Amino acid sequence: MKKLITSALPYVHGVPHLGNIIGSVLPADVYARFCRLRGEEVLFICGSDSHGTMFEIAAERRNTTPKKLAYENHKKVIEIFEKFKLSFDYYGITDSETNREFTYHIFRKLDENGYIKEKEVESAYCERCNRFLPDRFIEGKCPFCGGLTRGDQCDDCGKLMNIKEIIEPHCVLCNGEITFKKTRHLFLDLPKFEKELFDFVKNSRGWSKLAKKETLGFLKQGLKPRAITRDASWGFKVPKKNYENKVFYVWFDAPIGYLSFTKEWCLKNDQKFEEWWKNEKTKLVQFMGKDNTIFHSIIFPAMLLGCRENWKLADRLISCGWLKTEGIKFSKSRGKGLTTEEALKKYPADYWRFVLVSLYPEQNDSVFSIKIFKETINNEFADIIGNFVHRVLSFCYSNFKEIPRPDIFYPIPEEIKELKNIFKTITKNFEECKFREALKNIIHYCKISNAYFNNKEPWKKEGEEKKEICFYSGNLAKNLAIFLYPIVPNFSEKVFDFLNLNFKKIRWIDSAEFNFSGKIKKPKPLIEKIK
Ligand code: 2FM
Ligand code: ZN
Repeated sequence: MKKLITSALPYVHGVPHLGNIIGSVLPADVYARFCRLRGEEVLFICGSDSHGTMFEIAAERRNTTPKKLAYENHKKVIEIFEKFKLSFDYYGITDSETNREFTYHIFRKLDENGYIKEKEVESAYCERCNRFLPDRFIEGKCPFCGGLTRGDQCDDCGKLMNIKEIIEPHCVLCNGEITFKKTRHLFLDLPKFEKELFDFVKNSRGWSKLAKKETLGFLKQGLKPRAITRDASWGFKVPKKNYENKVFYVWFDAPIGYLSFTKEWCLKNDQKFEEWWKNEKTKLVQFMGKDNTIFHSIIFPAMLLGCRENWKLADRLISCGWLKTEGIKFSKSRGKGLTTEEALKKYPADYWRFVLVSLYPEQNDSVFSIKIFKETINNEFADIIGNFVHRVLSFCYSNFKEIPRPDIFYPIPEEIKELKNIFKTITKNFEECKFREALKNIIHYCKISNAYFNNKEPWKKEGEEKKEICFYSGNLAKNLAIFLYPIVPNFSEKVFDFLNLNFKKIRWIDSAEFNFSGKIKKPKPLIEKIK
């Protein structure tokens, strides 16, 4: 089965925080790795979101241009993501030529088909700077939570608002007062898609609860036309008369990046683009943070439907909540929380991946603290998992130099029989993208395995009996490494290496089997505790 997996495209006006990692790239990566192990034909794509007014602000502050800033950070982000072991098949950038072509194509189709409206609007203007101010250049108090908001979406509560509702608005560049002036913009005529979108959402299966909830809430309010152009200079110029000085709104060309990146990958790999984006049988699974939901569940689908070209719509949308630290959301724009770069300097990627998955905010926001980090690593990753695998492999190595196979066939011992069912649950957890649950059940699996090894006391046994215990314990360690591979790939690869297993041949289903034996290497301790 072809499976196209996407992660929301991180803005690269700065480098991502851990909040961005847990929000979409990490869960998408865990899922992609799981699907690959199941033998599915996976294409996992992502890329840098390089347009938008935040780039103008950030570039002005750093005395550079938005383009330079975007491409410099794009490079840095690629390096960080590699260190984080994110296994994208392709990582692009939305400023690419392919994306420009697709953006123009989709815009023209929507225009030809009567889904683009022109409207005069009042837009914020700074007399001192002598320019229209894009949303992100307006700062003030959020009318919903009173927090600081920049533009039409509050960084604190995530709610969308009309710019005119912002309390005490002022210009980010000069702090000056804001007036409102008339300007013309292009709008996507969303109300025309109401029925189709409603059907799309109603018939959808396998969305995360949060994705469904956010989308239904938005649909209930009734759809309004959405502006797709901005008075700004950084972005794709609008190819229409009288709009030459405007650019597309970043959220217009960003999701089109999913198509463009697929195309770029296809060109490089001699594959057929249509088989991914115009194929009923391909499954499209998209990951994002909850504030990105409606762009993926309403606006982007409307753009695709409006082309009347049979583009694929998402099969599953998986949104998640926010990771907070001491009650604050990780936010790039206000510099709170750890950057990924800093995090990776402190601890290896697997540690972060393990803890972030254990906190994956499937439904509610979750809280991160250094204390939680330390406890999770020491008590779960090191004491339960690392310790069990290392003890078993060391025991087998010092006694046999291998995972031995008993001469007589012994049926699966009573003590570990229930693990067959836990295997099924773990599989279901991964399928349903309930990664936090998956990890909990893996830890449970490990505890039962550990109890088996301890209670059987193989150090007091001899001959066949000792072999049998080592055979089963060795297989339990192997199974755990397979379960954990989507979450902590470095850890699992080390275990596979000790076991002399060729990773390329390993399949998910092997984690349900007790059939492995063979020479092993002398194992080294796997997880170092945090002091
Ligand atoms: O919120 C964000 O970080 C956006 N850059 C996500 C964009 S996803 C898309 F391209 F659809
Ligand atoms: Zn100003």
